[in-house]
Amino acid sequence: MADIPETMTAIGIATPGGPDVLRPETRPVPRPGAGQILVAIAAAGVNRPDVLQRQGGYTPPPGASDIPGLEFAGTVVARGEGARRYAIGQQVCALVPGGGYAEFAVVDESNALPLPNGFSLAEAGAVPETYFTVWTNVFQRGRLQAGESFLVHGGSSGIGTTAIQLARAFGATVLATAGSEEKCRACRELGADHAINYRTEDFVAAARAATGGRGVDLILDMVGGDYIDRNYEAAADQGRIVQIAFLNGPKTTANFSRLMLKRLTHTGSTLRPRTIAEKAAIAVELHEKVWPLLEAGRCRPQIHATFPLAQAAEAHRLMESSAHIGKIVLTV
Ligand SMILES: NC(=O)c1ccc[n+]([C@@H]2O[C@H](COP(=O)([O-])OP(=O)(O)OC[C@H]3O[C@@H](n4cnc5c(N)ncnc54)[C@H](OP(=O)(O)O)[C@@H]3O)[C@@H](O)[C@H]2O)c1
Repeated sequence: MADIPETMTAIGIATPGGPDVLRPETRPVPRPGAGQILVAIAAAGVNRPDVLQRQGGYTPPPGASDIPGLEFAGTVVARGEGARRYAIGQQVCALVPGGGYAEFAVVDESNALPLPNGFSLAEAGAVPETYFTVWTNVFQRGRLQAGESFLVHGGSSGIGTTAIQLARAFGATVLATAGSEEKCRACRELGADHAINYRTEDFVAAARAATGGRGVDLILDMVGGDYIDRNYEAAADQGRIVQIAFLNGPKTTANFSRLMLKRLTHTGSTLRPRTIAEKAAIAVELHEKVWPLLEAGRCRPQIHATFPLAQAAEAHRLMESSAHIGKIVLTV
């Protein structure tokens, strides 16, 4: 590790608060442990959970770096004991429970994937968090099948833009909700068959109309709040609802009799605290089933904006404005 510096620039959270608490700091360069690789980061994706962490609402799981950032792409510069999957100099992208907003990070080699052919580092750095999340929630938990209908709320989000493309690529009829006509247009361009502006249309009525009155087979929901009751209404008999966040709050009043009468399944999951082995199992499926789609150009991260690492605060301001469509990326 002769050429690797002792220290690096990383973005710290000075104290919980607004975007300005994100400040460049000097930190030691982490050293790769057994099975880990050290990556010189070129690009790190920004995700809504980073905003929550900055505000003090999403503590890193035990053992994770306190530096924000759940994904990155870069070049392998060192390997820990037993790490042999990637060569020094190889470009990878990776999922981490923290540490992405930095010049270097370590990751278990099983939670890294090779850069998809034809991808820039900025594009690859915007892949892991949403692709791991959508794969495990839509295809593993939600069991989406070709020919089914699928509704994603927040269709223009990083998660939504990924879910639309993947669901479409796997043969579902895709419905998406979004908060403006511009966002709805973007959802349609990405492959949504129906984009519903939830500010001007009732998504329950629109979803039922789009499915010939049947309702939707699978709903991926990040909104929660009153959407919980409305999702039960929008779902088809035996429909599934997978909860990945509660942007409108985790508590609500709902008519649970619909769960019973329609034989619905309501489940959910969160990716960050899952074990390295569980994330590795998702990575294996992504490599086998999704990497060919990325490399064939059938799915692509939508990069809305990039900011230099030192301007992480600006990136968070943009994310909180919700003006973006797709992903925001920090470049190192
Ligand atoms: N469970 C997991 O494992 C997991 C993993 C990753 C992310 N997540 C969650 O997934 C969600 C999306 O993440 P992301 O990084 O893709 O976010 P993002 O790009 O910032 O998008 C969030 C979008 O949600 C829409 N939205 C709807 N209701 C909202 C509300 N009450 N407050 C703010 N935005 C609202 C906004 O668009 P409109 O203009 O259409 O309203 C906004 O642009 C986040 O809640 C995140 O915490 C969960």
